[in-house]
This record gives sequence, C-alpha cells and structure tokens, in this order.
Amino acid sequence: MSKKWYFSPEKIVVQPEEDGALVAHVGDPSSLKVNQVAFDVLQLLYEPQTLDGVVEQLCRVYDADEEECARFVLHFLRELESTGWIVALSPGRDESPLNSRYLGLLKRVLVNWIYPEHELQVSYLQSDYVAEDRLARSRHLRDISHIEAEKYAELLEKKRHGFVTVLSHTLVGLRRLNHLEYCARQIFAQGIPGDFFEAGVCQGGASIFLRALQVVFGEEQRRTWAADSFEGLPPAALPQDEGLDFTEPNYPWLAFSQERVEEHFRRYDLWSDHVRLVKGWFSETLPTLDCGPLAILRLDADLYQSTMEVLVNLYDKVVPGGFVVVDDYGAFQACRLAVDDFRIERNIQEPLKWIDWSGVYWRKNC
Ligand SMILES: C[S@@+](CC[C@H](N)C(=O)[O-])C[C@H]1O[C@@H](n2cnc3c(N)ncnc32)[C@H](O)[C@@H]1O
Repeated sequence: MSKKWYFSPEKIVVQPEEDGALVAHVGDPSSLKVNQVAFDVLQLLYEPQTLDGVVEQLCRVYDADEEECARFVLHFLRELESTGWIVALSPGRDESPLNSRYLGLLKRVLVNWIYPEHELQVSYLQSDYVAEDRLARSRHLRDISHIEAEKYAELLEKKRHGFVTVLSHTLVGLRRLNHLEYCARQIFAQGIPGDFFEAGVCQGGASIFLRALQVVFGEEQRRTWAADSFEGLPPAALPQDEGLDFTEPNYPWLAFSQERVEEHFRRYDLWSDHVRLVKGWFSETLPTLDCGPLAILRLDADLYQSTMEVLVNLYDKVVPGGFVVVDDYGAFQACRLAVDDFRIERNIQEPLKWIDWSGVYWRKNC
C-alpha cells in the first residue's frame, strides 16, 4: 500500500446535484462533477490522509469490499493529483506513523479538541441558568456535551474552521493547522531553505505548531520567529482600519504577555534558542529585524496597517518556493485590502488560493 499523504490544500465550493455534486476551487471557472462517494473522498481530504485511512473511513460508511474500495480510491486520487486538485506528499525522511499521530494529537490539543467540554462548562457556570442545587449542577457539568448537544456540535465545528474560541492556545482552526503542515512538508521535501515566521501570535498556538513541525521532521536547525506586541493590537490609525478597535480594553483575549507565550512553548516541550520571540509594535521591530531567509511567513494581525507592515518588511525575505499564509483575508476587509494593495503594488502574479472561509496563501515561484 502507498504510504503517501493526500491533501486538498484549496477550499472547495460545492453545488449539490441530484446524483452527486459539482465542486470547484474559488475563482477557478473549471468545475468537477463527482458522485456521492467521490465527494466523500474529497471531504476526507480536508485533512491529510493516507490511502489506507481514506479506505478505512469509506468502508465504515459504505460497507464496501476493502480491496475494491482501495482500487477505486487510488484511481480517483491519482486522477485528482494529476489534474492538480490535490497534492500527494511523500512521507518525511525516517518518518514513522507515530510522527503524524503526534502532529494529529498536537493539533487537537492546540485547538482544545481534547477537553472541549470545559469551554461549555465555563459558560454554563457564568450563566443565569446555572442550577443552585449542587447535585443537579454537577450532573449538568458532567453530561454537558449531551445536554447542550447543539452548542457542543457548534463548538467543534468552530474549532475545525477557525472561528474564535478563546479558551484554546490558538484561534486558528484545524483546517489551517493542517494547511501549515502541508506547507512545511513541501518545504522540507523540496529542500527549500529558510526559517518560519509568524507575525501576530496571541497565545502562541500556531507558532508552537510551526516549531513542532521543524522538530518532528528533524529540521530543528531552522528557527521559528514569533513577533507580537504581547499587549494586543494597536488602535486603528489608518482610514482603512476605521471602526476596528481590537485594543486590549475591548479584546483582552488578544493580549497575552511574552512570558506567558514562552511558558506555553515550554509546556509543549518546544522552547529552545531556535525560537525567537520578537516583542514590540511591528512598525518598530520589523524594519531592523535581522531575520531570514524565510520559508513560511504567516500573517495573523487582523488590521490593514499591521498586515501591510509585515508584508513591507518581511516579504522580500521569503525565498523562492516559500509560502505566504494570511489568516484573516476572509475575516476582515481591512486585512484583505492590505494584501490586495500589496500584491498589486508589487505586481505579484502567483495566484492567491483560499484555504478555508478566511485563510489564503500563495507560494513564491521557485
Ligand atoms: C488574532 S491574534 C493572533 C492569533 C494567533 N496567531 C493564534 O494562533 O491564535 C492577533 C495578534 O496580532 C498582534 N498584533 C496585531 N497588530 C500588531 C502590531 N502592529 N504590532 C504587534 N503586534 C500586533 C496582537 O497583539 C495579537 O496577539
């Protein structure tokens, strides 16, 4: 059996049809007609999967013969790969199945998929409907994922898709973490040089994941940079950011101290002198920062001004074949405008691709 990983890095838009669906990438006029099984395969590739993994999950749903299913799936995956719909990634040097299990577990820990009930429990305890009786309260807390099943399902969906859930080490959902893993696997497999950089760190989760990727694939000599004020976002100063107030008094959950972020790295056993936290406003730290070359530049800073400052100061440090990943393109008009303005000004021709409802990326030509 093939040990390759299959993954769909681009968001797929779906138009249901009677006997299946029409699927397409955002902004791409060509669509693909797929039946229900093929559509299910595409959905599974939302996360990196091996052929065995896809087959196992399909057989569970369709009660199909495993060998026949594997033949069908492999044929379909090859077709998708040859038409550029998905990528097939070879395992890393000396990669064992435990590597990807570790990364899978790490992603779920970072988004707090492991103890999600705690988040519902906190809001229950803060609510007006909390039971006065101790036993009733304890039972509600114990069974909260069943009693508040709808809220629970909603919460998990948010964690998949990167909608803000603040009681986790990252606001970035599983989909975007999977995408970062895809970027790193490409970088390592193709020997693209450079460090990883995140601008806009908050509790540190996405930066921690970037460092984990370097460690897991034996690339610890690369550095992970994480730049932030560590006191939240600045007040809006440009007309493009008018009306956006993400400062600490309005959004305390976006302001975590440098010490706290370092502590988070330590908890994951991922702190080292190859991790560099850069403290201060981007306008003050980035112009003179001695960093680079960069293989991954991840922007997660919400505002027009912050996004532009990162691009102006760091884009030229991204190497050919490197990835530029922007978290908030779909979430904030201001961020989108900064990216569009920058791409126009610099005449960037590499296509901008959607990861999910908010994240986008492009890859510098090799
Ligand atoms: C949405 S949060 C980042 C989320 C994070 N990447 C994660 O994994 O959850 C945005 C961060 O950007 C930082 N930030 C935004 N603009 C900044 C600027 N101009 N200078 C320094 N930090 C900035 C804020 O302090 C905040 O921590």
